[in-house]
Amino acid sequence: MEERIDTLLATFDGARGEIIPILQRVQDEFGYLPESEMIRVARFTGVSETRLYGVASFYAQFRFTPVGDTVIQVCRGTACHVSGAQQVLDELSRQLGIGEGETTDDEKYTLETVACIGCCALAPCMTVNDDVRGRLTRNDVTEMYPAE
Ligand code: FES
Repeated sequence: MEERIDTLLATFDGARGEIIPILQRVQDEFGYLPESEMIRVARFTGVSETRLYGVASFYAQFRFTPVGDTVIQVCRGTACHVSGAQQVLDELSRQLGIGEGETTDDEKYTLETVACIGCCALAPCMTVNDDVRGRLTRNDVTEMYPAE
């Protein structure tokens, strides 16, 4: 892990203005912001760990716990909400056996909700990692993620 963060940090100058891009790269690399890497970033940029956590926790995009291989984000924006997003979320939760914000024990799936993802015409929609799935029904979810 240490080698990975060294390589990553080597592409930055350590300026405070780089904090967000650095954290984004760390999360891209590890899937979340591990405590050990946050300490390294704090030292590298010269900001306190407290301040760094304060900055990172301000943005919904950053995670502080590991996520599953597949991150499913159900849109809870208005268009999706009125088109049945809650039923999609409930079915995903039932099929995967986890609630919103949780990861399956085998670390295959993480289930989250997000605000509008900009595909309202496809409501209700969700992302599976970076792929958008739209016009979802409860049956679609059942077929995608049959309970084991
Ligand atoms: S409200 Fe769901 S994509 Fe806009």
